[in-house]
Amino acid sequence: MRSVKVHLADHRDYPIVIGQNRLQELPLFLDQCLQQKEKKRRAVLVFVDEKVKSQGFELINILSGRGFEIHSMIIPSGESSKSLAQLSTIYDFCAEKSLTRQTVVITLGGGVVGDLGGFVAATYNRGMDFIQIPTTLLAMVDSSVGGKVGINHSGGKNLIGAFHQPRGVWIDLNYLETLPQREFLSGLAEVVKYGVILDESFFVYLEKNSQSIIAKENNILQDIIQRSCELKAEVVKNDEHELTGLRMILNYGHTFAHAFETISNYGELLHGEAVSIGMIVASRFAQMRGYISEEVTQRQIRLLQTFNLPVKPKKEWETDQLIRIMKRDKKSTVGQLRLILPTRIGEVKLFSDIEEREVKEVLQVR
Ligand SMILES: NC(=O)c1ccc[n+]([C@@H]2O[C@H](COP(=O)([O-])OP(=O)(O)OC[C@H]3O[C@@H](n4cnc5c(N)ncnc54)[C@H](O)[C@@H]3O)[C@@H](O)[C@H]2O)c1
Ligand SMILES: [Zn+2]
Repeated sequence: MRSVKVHLADHRDYPIVIGQNRLQELPLFLDQCLQQKEKKRRAVLVFVDEKVKSQGFELINILSGRGFEIHSMIIPSGESSKSLAQLSTIYDFCAEKSLTRQTVVITLGGGVVGDLGGFVAATYNRGMDFIQIPTTLLAMVDSSVGGKVGINHSGGKNLIGAFHQPRGVWIDLNYLETLPQREFLSGLAEVVKYGVILDESFFVYLEKNSQSIIAKENNILQDIIQRSCELKAEVVKNDEHELTGLRMILNYGHTFAHAFETISNYGELLHGEAVSIGMIVASRFAQMRGYISEEVTQRQIRLLQTFNLPVKPKKEWETDQLIRIMKRDKKSTVGQLRLILPTRIGEVKLFSDIEEREVKEVLQVR
């Protein structure tokens, strides 16, 4: 299996392993990730997204065959599970089963189950160890790396959360087999993002191998997941708690994307689709300011379109409303718009001098 190490201070380094058909080796991986602690700690709490219920049973079978004491909960699929109500149900379950801090949380699902289960691990009994087993491409390349966990609140998405790093991340390509193609393609938007913000040669690799990626060729998929994890891990290592601003580069395209998701009520667009449009709008912005040539934007458009991703804001989205939403975004400080803009393929910078009229102008291109 391939392995990427996430380096963190205070001996909290952890491995991300990537492979296929290796479920039998999971108990060993758990032992390795949790080795510092006493051997007898074998109780696990498994959160399973309802769409991967059968894979959940398979996992539980393997663990119970190896002596783990299993507690499990099926989590309804979808963003609405990242709620206080769901969290409360889970805490009730933990208390009722008298789970202790020694219980290890395992999340099997996409970003929703990872964020929710991770937050339980961060808070119940002042913190438990946890292992992420991502089952969507987005979770494999993004949400399971970096330790951000949390739930939503009516006042904002991910408003209640913590930094709580997993002890290990286990990526098995088999899980992608049942993932709807649209979800898979949406995850690719974040993969393209890594190329634009940090690594031109990775971007070129994506251009060259786009057809094999769509065909889900095993080795190529492992390559892109590995490279994405490496790139994100490097950013997280250097700015774990989002203090220096470095981690903000991961938000390329996201200020626009959040506005698109909000204006369309989180209904019609998947996150990666919104990010895809957002990256192109941001790229156009950079072009407007003369930071990059048209070709830099065009290359991104071509690649994203190969992955069947949208690249233009919808005509019915009202510009003024989008701007209002963007100003409310928690990443913009007191109403001042800030944007991550590309300066070439492979490099982005944070700009804090963003004028509303410029945003307006760039949003008119549809
Ligand atoms: N923590 C972070 O750093 C971070 C980063 C990015 C996104 N996120 C969060 O991640 C969430 C989005 O994650 P996501 O895109 O994985 O969404 P998701 O978890 O909602 O999964 C998408 C859909 O796919 C289904 N599904 C999951 N795995 C499947 C499989 N193998 N086969 C069939 N169906 C499957 C789910 O039930 C769901 O319907 C958001 O809540 C977002 O805030 C967190
Ligand atoms: Zn994202």
